[in-house]
Amino acid sequence: MSHEFFNPVRSVYGAGALSSLPKLLAGRKAVIVTFPEARQFGLVDRLQRLLGAQMAGVIDQVLPNPDVAELQALYEQFWRDGGQAEVLVAVGGGSSIDTAKALMVGTESGRFEDLVAALVAGKPFTPARVKPLIAVPTTAGTGSEVTPWATVWDRKAQRKYSLHLPETWPGIAIVDPELMLSLPASVTLQSGLDALSHALESIWNVNANAVSDTFAVAAVHEIFDALPRLMAKLDDVELRGRMALAALKAGMAFSNTRTALAHSISYEMTLRYGLPHGIACSFPLPMVLQRAMGHDVQRDAVLAQALGPLDRAPQRLAAFIEQFGVKTRFADYGVSSEQADRMVAHALTGARGRNFIGAAQSEAA
Ligand SMILES: [Fe+2]
Repeated sequence: MSHEFFNPVRSVYGAGALSSLPKLLAGRKAVIVTFPEARQFGLVDRLQRLLGAQMAGVIDQVLPNPDVAELQALYEQFWRDGGQAEVLVAVGGGSSIDTAKALMVGTESGRFEDLVAALVAGKPFTPARVKPLIAVPTTAGTGSEVTPWATVWDRKAQRKYSLHLPETWPGIAIVDPELMLSLPASVTLQSGLDALSHALESIWNVNANAVSDTFAVAAVHEIFDALPRLMAKLDDVELRGRMALAALKAGMAFSNTRTALAHSISYEMTLRYGLPHGIACSFPLPMVLQRAMGHDVQRDAVLAQALGPLDRAPQRLAAFIEQFGVKTRFADYGVSSEQADRMVAHALTGARGRNFIGAAQSEAA
């Protein structure tokens, strides 16, 4: 049986890596896609100084968990007025990078609803025009800088869509831990736990392979060691760098496997209970680990490499997450055990849930 690992993203990383942006643009004009607070944090000024005339514009209306209703105006304005942009540069967390992935693929008409209609119908979509993307994460967690996936929400319809096309891979990821130095504790924790979830979800995954496993195991080891230290010393650039690299490795792992049951559960927890993504996709990890164990000798071996002997691994994983004050049971979030059973059963039937190695057995049971 042969396997394949593919990731076309050129990754540039390390403290100060942002300064390579002008060279990487190679004379092309860039439109920055970022979050509203980027101006007050001085990030937009810094980019302006760095890029000078290469900076063709700034879109700074990115909101957390981008919604189709909010994206429509941004998208249509971008394709109407954004002609000078030769490259999109997304600077921010997962929401900024995911917004840029939605913007980069232009419909023939310039109307966003044509793209949404394809997402709703689950039909293939071929963009009529594409702008290349450089992704500059300012959090260590999303992994979106090295994957083609973008999560687009429709809160009105209580749904979530996954945009992923051959065209939505970023061309370049610039991972600079100096950009993460001022992140508050809450975002540092949520993004770190998101990265942990990406790594573990790529292991208990029907699409796992030896290369994704190597990235995932390294990411779990690094997160277990570096995240508690970083939470005690948020301004330590070396620890920021270790977490940035761990998140990048976790991103590389799930860029080839996609996520699985914990992320499938997370979407409902975010839509219905308002949990931030990093908490929603990490609190169920000990429960999902328990379900993952015992299905496949090889998967068990990789989980043991990542987490240590499996007999105590769920407890160890729960203790790791709970040390940060994050509870790991549904009841802690006001979800009854009947509701939780229904939610997990539903999550197992979702696109991500079906990637889980225990999904087939759960269906048969
Ligand atoms: Fe995630």
